Amino acid sequence: MLDQKVAALLNEQVNKEFYSAYLYLDFSIYYEETGLDGFANWYKIQAQEERDHAMLMLQYLQNNGAKVTLEAVAKPDKALTDKLEVLKLGLEHEQYVTSLIHGIYEAAYDVRDFRTMQFLDWFVKEQGEEEKNAEDLVKKMELFGEDAKSLYMLNSEMAARTYTAPSLTL
Ligand code: FEO
Repeated sequence: MLDQKVAALLNEQVNKEFYSAYLYLDFSIYYEETGLDGFANWYKIQAQEERDHAMLMLQYLQNNGAKVTLEAVAKPDKALTDKLEVLKLGLEHEQYVTSLIHGIYEAAYDVRDFRTMQFLDWFVKEQGEEEKNAEDLVKKMELFGEDAKSLYMLNSEMAARTYTAPSLTL
């Protein structure tokens, strides 16, 4: 059986990951409406990845005999008004999620829950990649966002992203 605190934090994280999916879907809608369909595609896929994260955590809880409780997913409430600022919000959000994952890891470490630590290793690495992706997007937009031709190319690059299932299986 999982430690109560660890299980509660993982259960909360299921909700946070669904929120991330919802937030990125909101980003996708924003970019679609501004005509940047490549960015819209990129964030729609990101939303799918976040849903995968939630499902992996849910499955892990179930595999370990923990009760899962689904809470309401909050409404995305960030004002999306600028193509660069939205990317910065994405980076901030990923940094926040990293802190949450580290918090669960710490709780698992405190009770020597090695299994959960091993499960979370994948998420720690994933967060490193997601922060890097978000940082790269901010940098690219800062560099090229004001030039129409470059922005067109950047948008095309974002349009090429395709969904791949997570490498972690349970
Ligand atoms: Fe589920 Fe973007 O971290």
